[in-house]
Amino acid sequence: MEDAYYITTPIYYVNASPHIGHAYTTIVADVLARYHRLHGVRTFFTTGTDEHGDKIAETAQKAGVTPKTYADRISAQFRALWPELAVTNDYFIRTTDANHVDTVRRILQKVYDAGDIYFGQYEGFYCVGCERFYMEKELVDGKCPDHQLAPEYRKESNYFFRMGKYQQWLIDHIEQNPDFIRPERYRNEALAFLREPLEDLCISRPKSRLTWGITLPFDENYVTYVWFDALINYITAVGYPDGENFRTFWPVAEHLIAKDILKPHGIYWSTMLKAAGIEPYQHLNVHGYWNVDQSKMSKSVGNVVKPLDLKDKYGLDPFRYFLMRDMVFGLDSSFSEEAFVQRINSDLANDLGNLVSRTMTMAVKYGNGKVPAPAAAVAEDNLLRETAARTVTEVEACFADLGFHKALIAIWEFINVTNKYIVEREPWLLAKDPANRARLETILYNLLEVLRITAVLITPFMPGSAAKIQKQLGIADAAGQNFDAIREWGGLPPGNELKRGESLFPRVEIKAAEASPEPAKADVPPIKPEIAYEEFEKVDLRAAKVIAAERVPKSNKLLKLTVEIDGERTIVAGMGKDYSPEEIVGKTIVVVANLKSAKLMGVESRGMLLATDTEEGLTLLGFDRPPKIGAKIR
Ligand code: ME8
Repeated sequence: MEDAYYITTPIYYVNASPHIGHAYTTIVADVLARYHRLHGVRTFFTTGTDEHGDKIAETAQKAGVTPKTYADRISAQFRALWPELAVTNDYFIRTTDANHVDTVRRILQKVYDAGDIYFGQYEGFYCVGCERFYMEKELVDGKCPDHQLAPEYRKESNYFFRMGKYQQWLIDHIEQNPDFIRPERYRNEALAFLREPLEDLCISRPKSRLTWGITLPFDENYVTYVWFDALINYITAVGYPDGENFRTFWPVAEHLIAKDILKPHGIYWSTMLKAAGIEPYQHLNVHGYWNVDQSKMSKSVGNVVKPLDLKDKYGLDPFRYFLMRDMVFGLDSSFSEEAFVQRINSDLANDLGNLVSRTMTMAVKYGNGKVPAPAAAVAEDNLLRETAARTVTEVEACFADLGFHKALIAIWEFINVTNKYIVEREPWLLAKDPANRARLETILYNLLEVLRITAVLITPFMPGSAAKIQKQLGIADAAGQNFDAIREWGGLPPGNELKRGESLFPRVEIKAAEASPEPAKADVPPIKPEIAYEEFEKVDLRAAKVIAAERVPKSNKLLKLTVEIDGERTIVAGMGKDYSPEEIVGKTIVVVANLKSAKLMGVESRGMLLATDTEEGLTLLGFDRPPKIGAKIR
């Protein structure tokens, strides 16, 4: 491990309030920062907000306020959120900060002076959602694949960064440093992208169209493209060019992002640094996406998960634990409240919570409220000591690999070995006979020592609960409780005053009604008379995929869908009030494929898709796992 550590999160756009995705990245960064501090490593952790560009200007305009007023409001929400989630960032950057504006202008001037920025003409498709130009071949059905919206066609004179010039350098750098971008799937994605010729990057916007940005130092009629501005935050935060922090922390920079912004970080940022004569960052660490109940989180679907709602309902440490335990770093994960509650009740209340409360109850009852002095260990105690040592090593190996969920699995194995040790040793029986006193005290000591070690191991993930355990153990100086202090068994001083505390993780009672909402009886229409199987067989139901959608002109209810089954066909569906065309594209659905075709408002429809009622309107029938397109529904 190096003696310094620098961890960054993306700086979040201020066009929407924080959600579980932002919370995840920032909590991962916090877990890493705390972990390094527990190893005595000098650590710098920064997060912040990205405030310039078309998207923010548009959102502010819709809200009827200036971009700065809007940015102030949302940036403050992010800033206030982090302490509530026990996030210990050292710095919070806003791209509207004066020091950042200076740094951006300095870098622009440097790259311009070196001849890597030129003036040119551009025309092409621009997606405001992505804040970037698209090549025609990147569009899907003429739309941005991320936002499902047709981009605007723009033609303007602009400044360009000679990104293409650094293509071969970047390929070589990624190949020579295999974990520059990790996990591997994202490295491969970046390399795949670099197999195509790398175009130069348009890095300005004319003020005639957009004024909300940083003015170029060499042409005051232009502002800086928001990504060129935003990426530079990572060096502003450590005081580029001559701050002490820059010298200490830039050589060990670790960026943390989700897969959505791999390209700007992997490609733009790396080449920008090269052109500006700055060493590349150490690693780009890329995680997957949180979906919600299997679908993409989106404002229009109304399934955005707010971190504070969960914290308020279930507690902060359970929230942090769940996020870290239920996502494999690098892969997507699906959030569901049921899965969360299950984790609380099993891993937290049952396993860890029980271990702490049983141990403390017995230690207080049989040990006069003090940590007993252990007698010599016997063979049966070695398993605990060995498991403790192995767990510490394993957790460190998992962290080096960003395997946070694996680190937690290892810690929980240790907890469960200890719970088993209690059941097998039966201290309550030993307590009945004073002759067993020394053995009983040794067992109690061992259990308390496991708690001491566990508290350090869980500190990065659940700092509040770790501190509560340490308080119960009478450890006054929690600062001394670091990884070095848990490599050796026996660090808990006998004689420490024990203080039983409240239950760490109360179980969450799942109300029957909440667990499975019964449909209101009156809403359920009567079941139709029986039919023979042969009759059902006549209906040819198929798995299909919606590949394009548009509204039928003059109808607010009908959508004209192009669906793929055994080829493409058109289906007209009365879902226009429940789904927008953008939303429905890409969905896998169930279609009655052999329904007699019919014309609806002049459009011929070949088939019908299946849907059912919800409290708010219609929902499409879908699949638990992705089906083969065209497969028969049986
Ligand atoms: O892209 N699951 O800002 P942004 C997991 N301003 N993480 C998610 C997520 C999800 N569903 N949704 C968002 C920007 N995130 C730019 C960044 S950096 C120089 C500029 C997290 O507000 C994740 O970290 O859209 C993702 O990369 C980031 O939020 C995007 O935040």
